[in-house]
Amino acid sequence: MDSIKARLIKAAVAILEKAYAPYSNHPVGAALLANDGNIYVGCNVENAAYPLGQCAESTAISSMILGGGHAIKHLVVVGPSEQLCTPCGGCRQKIREFTGVTGVPVSICDNHGNIMLETDSADLLPNSFGPENAERAKAILGAKIK
Ligand code: THU
Repeated sequence: MDSIKARLIKAAVAILEKAYAPYSNHPVGAALLANDGNIYVGCNVENAAYPLGQCAESTAISSMILGGGHAIKHLVVVGPSEQLCTPCGGCRQKIREFTGVTGVPVSICDNHGNIMLETDSADLLPNSFGPENAERAKAILGAKIK
């Protein structure tokens, strides 16, 4: 296994410990390699108002943005068991924002870091809508899209 992937898996397993998941009892850890060469991590952060909970992938993306990265090169997600923990629909769209239309590798692991699924962000969200589409909308409509 290449060393970056091994480092990502190790980081995602480690951050699982930090998950705040008292309502679901389903801790999740995520680690991503960003365009700046750094690894950013995240865990899920739930809330007593259930719908406000944040997924691990979303937290990792926020960490990347705070750290100065702006593109995901590889994403690892670690679930609490050997049940496959693939990103939810909302996270697939959030991941899409920072991976581009061609996609990047996504590795799904169990809580020990054993790889259960190797996939690609483009396969997780086919025919996706992303920044390029919004850029086009901006050009056509003159809309103020940041
Ligand atoms: N969750 C994640 O953090 N990432 C995933 O890929 C799937 C689900 C979280 C959301 C919620 O806190 C808990 O897992 C149960 O759905």
